[in-house]
Amino acid sequence: MDNRAIGIFDSGVGGLTVLWEIMKAIPNESTIYFGDTKRFPYGPRDLDEVKKLVFKITRFLYDKDVKLIVIACNTSTAAALDDLKRQYDIPIIGVIEPGARTAVYNTRNKRVGVIATEGTVKSNAYPNEIERINPGIKTFSVPAPLLVDFVEKGILKGSGLDKVIKGYLKPLYDAGIDVLILGCTHFPLIEKRILACSGNGIKVISSAVETAKDVREILEERGLCADKGKTPERFFYETGIKSKFFEVGNMFLGEEIKEVIKIKLDI
Ligand code: DGL
Repeated sequence: MDNRAIGIFDSGVGGLTVLWEIMKAIPNESTIYFGDTKRFPYGPRDLDEVKKLVFKITRFLYDKDVKLIVIACNTSTAAALDDLKRQYDIPIIGVIEPGARTAVYNTRNKRVGVIATEGTVKSNAYPNEIERINPGIKTFSVPAPLLVDFVEKGILKGSGLDKVIKGYLKPLYDAGIDVLILGCTHFPLIEKRILACSGNGIKVISSAVETAKDVREILEERGLCADKGKTPERFFYETGIKSKFFEVGNMFLGEEIKEVIKIKLDI
């Protein structure tokens, strides 16, 4: 048994979608969530710069003695997962492989669409991962940075949002996709709108559920699970001052966030 917390991070509130699934899958596990709201968004940044930020946050969580880290951000996963895995002696899990795996399993016509940040699209992480699993599948990716802004500002519905979603999805429909990956952890917060703006017969996939399953399996395999009857502790950290973390976070997690600890994490 291991009652240490699980560390989870993102550039902002998006990773809370992964935290939520972890809380449902393994409710007795304590968690420490970190949102780098001061430096949000990561999507337009150079991947080398994102890598530096990710290394710093990972060190912060590691020093808090977490037993496993979830990179609940596609951009950060694309930039640094492989290097981090090599450098740390605790399990580190990203969100790209679980989403790609689910898409491969679900596509019937072998045409998969991805909406993500510019950084994730540029990295080719999804097409590469999908090709590794099944080289017969074609992946079409569209950067959708405005959707990240909508979510971080707490705008989760409305005609302005729908119009932007439709604009991003058009080239993917034209390409004939039957599966759409939400390749950014911010997007499940607007999944209902994405579904409503999607054509019939398109399956929308978020990697959060699969990632949470992976976390549970790894904890079980390695004997790292917390005591069954344990009441979990939840900590939230952010680097920004005027961010909407609290507001958007509670909209999503209910009343779970009692306090957000502001910290300075200089790079
Ligand atoms: N939630 C993020 C992702 O999954 C990043 C959003 C951003 O910082 O641009 O890529």
